[in-house]
Amino acid sequence: MEEQKLRSANWFGLKGKDGFIYRAWMKNQGIPDYEFNNKPVIGICNTWSELTPCNGHFRELAQSVRRGILEAGGFPVEFPVMSLGETLIKPTAMLYRNLASMDVEESIRANPLDGVVLLCGCDKTTPSLVMGACSVNIPTIVVSGGPMLTGRYNGKSIGTSDLWRFDADLKKGIIDEEEMRTIESAMCRSSGHCAVMGTASSMACMVEALGISLPGNAAIPAADARRKMLAQFSGLRIVEMVKEDLKLSDILTRNAFENAIKVNAAIGGSTNFVIHLLAIAGRIGVDLHLKDFDELSANIPLIANLQPAGKYFMEDLFYAGGLPAVLRELDSILHHDCITANGKTIKENYENAESYNSDVITGMENPFNNATGLAILKGNLCEDGAVIKPSAASEHLMTHTGKAVVFENIEDYKARIDLEDLDVDETSILVLKNVGPKGYPGMPEVGNMTLPKKLLKRGISDMVRISDGRMSGTGFGTVVLHVSPEAAAGGNFSVIQTGDIITLDVPNRSLNVDLTDEILQERKAKYKEEPRSIKRGYVGLYIDHVQQAHLGADMDFLRGGSGSVVSRDSH
Ligand code: FES
Repeated sequence: MEEQKLRSANWFGLKGKDGFIYRAWMKNQGIPDYEFNNKPVIGICNTWSELTPCNGHFRELAQSVRRGILEAGGFPVEFPVMSLGETLIKPTAMLYRNLASMDVEESIRANPLDGVVLLCGCDKTTPSLVMGACSVNIPTIVVSGGPMLTGRYNGKSIGTSDLWRFDADLKKGIIDEEEMRTIESAMCRSSGHCAVMGTASSMACMVEALGISLPGNAAIPAADARRKMLAQFSGLRIVEMVKEDLKLSDILTRNAFENAIKVNAAIGGSTNFVIHLLAIAGRIGVDLHLKDFDELSANIPLIANLQPAGKYFMEDLFYAGGLPAVLRELDSILHHDCITANGKTIKENYENAESYNSDVITGMENPFNNATGLAILKGNLCEDGAVIKPSAASEHLMTHTGKAVVFENIEDYKARIDLEDLDVDETSILVLKNVGPKGYPGMPEVGNMTLPKKLLKRGISDMVRISDGRMSGTGFGTVVLHVSPEAAAGGNFSVIQTGDIITLDVPNRSLNVDLTDEILQERKAKYKEEPRSIKRGYVGLYIDHVQQAHLGADMDFLRGGSGSVVSRDSH
């Protein structure tokens, strides 16, 4: 290989003082320059952090990637980036997705990297890394951390989706705090991310469906030795990708995005998939819109029987053949020729896949649920759109008209939801405002509001709920999310009041409030915005620049990319 073909040669291949500085300080790590000079230098972008428990095993995983890179004749350099742990970060990890993506983008661009391996796991660590890498666009491969082993409690399989049921049981007095503590230990019993088809698993499936990971990446459990092997193979492969100059923009075509949307519908993937895929498309320059999700998902039934929409867990999906077996079932609706990270087309990757359990992966002709994974709503309550997951909702509420019970913000909801005299019954529609990107800020996963205690005690398990926030990918219910424009952006949603009549009509993809345009305009003219309390720092910048949910909630100035060229030297 000629030296100048490598990007890293712009550092290590230089003569004189500059080359001296770039090389000499690498040598202080005890590395002779033949190790890194004139070899593909591969960054291992690591989101390991003890504050991101789902990614707690990533130092070990990075060692496997490192072995693969060395084996292929590359030089590995591991570097940390901001890590987003879904469970610990307040007020919500989503607030920092864009910040982490900036860290990733600038870390890749500023350093002598020819290729990069992204170690992704817990929910936001996948989109933030992929978004950042797209804005640089050098050869890149994703290695996901893998799901946890299935939880076991009282002889039953459990996963994160059951948390919402346990919480309801606690409220009903069926279980107590002590039992909750016992369940805690039984649920998260190995390394890895949530074991259901929540957001992390949806993201792992997304990267495989897009073609930016090796086949099989989505489902191998974190604790399975084959996860480390996949990491090593990925290290090996990224060196070849550098030699082939196979960049993200070569793989992430419009057709690859269409495949990912269809796959997400068929596996009952998270609603968060919508927001993250839109943001990724915005970075790589693919024209993708909210309505595309509806058009492409329509008529695709659920063929992966996984929680929260179904019964099984990611471990079961792996034993049943993993995502390649799902893709094979979807053969008739996928684009076949999309090139993937291993240099083969997506069809070449799945055509010999076998499905070993027809209860976990069903055929298209006999799906376990006919409801599609995602639907996009429009109407005077969500002028720019809203999202619902029919496969995780109640059939009898798919068309529903009810009186709104409105909470102005999360504090209002918490203060009043369990009041005995709250005027609410199972036909009511719970509305939560000001939990959108700007309003919260950060668009937290509070959209699947817990039902009023008095209704839970009567055995009511679902109601129509509407918000401008998100829902955990592990959540379920008849929950309308991502209302755009959000309340804080001054759309019609901002002036909905308790008692207004709302109609949800999922078959016709509509969400409307029974108010005339005149009344809505009158109310908006009187509407007073909450005074803004946060102005400084990253959060101030975020509020000023975050786009609405229907655009992916990226910051306006981060869309697109700046490429990989750095024209000025540092010395
Ligand atoms: Fe990390 Fe669920 S909390 S994936």
